[in-house]
Amino acid sequence: MKHVLLLNGPNLNMLGRRQPEIYGAETLADIVARCTLRASDLGFTLEARQSNYEGELVTWIQDAREKADAIIINPGAYSHTSVAILDALSMFEGRVMEVHLSNIHKREAFRHHSYVSARADAVIAGCGAEGYELALLRLATLLG
Ligand code: DQA
Repeated sequence: MKHVLLLNGPNLNMLGRRQPEIYGAETLADIVARCTLRASDLGFTLEARQSNYEGELVTWIQDAREKADAIIINPGAYSHTSVAILDALSMFEGRVMEVHLSNIHKREAFRHHSYVSARADAVIAGCGAEGYELALLRLATLLG
């Protein structure tokens, strides 16, 4: 069975209460539950983690080497600042899917650039929580 690591960065633990007009009403627990179901339908095992700390995300990405076949990551604000997360993902040999709940290109200029996109196999933005499931569907094709 293929193993997928789902990573969420800073402030995404606040989903449901955080600017729902931008990020939607679902909590992170709701999203993880929906992704766990979808992953099992597709024949994947899914492990979900969230951190507000850049170094913790870097360590989890390093640990995913030789363990996970793919990483789905919403790096939150670290998308726009973190060379460290990009470097960690560049050492990972599996597939990388970058997800943003909102359409970052429709928002403030500082959100238009993501360091992670230089490594991602695909970028999904503006599809809300469904974006994570779209990433899983795409992984079914890529890993299948
Ligand atoms: C986000 C977009 C980022 O700009 C923001 O800092 C987030 C969430 C999104 O999912 O739309 O925390 O990655």
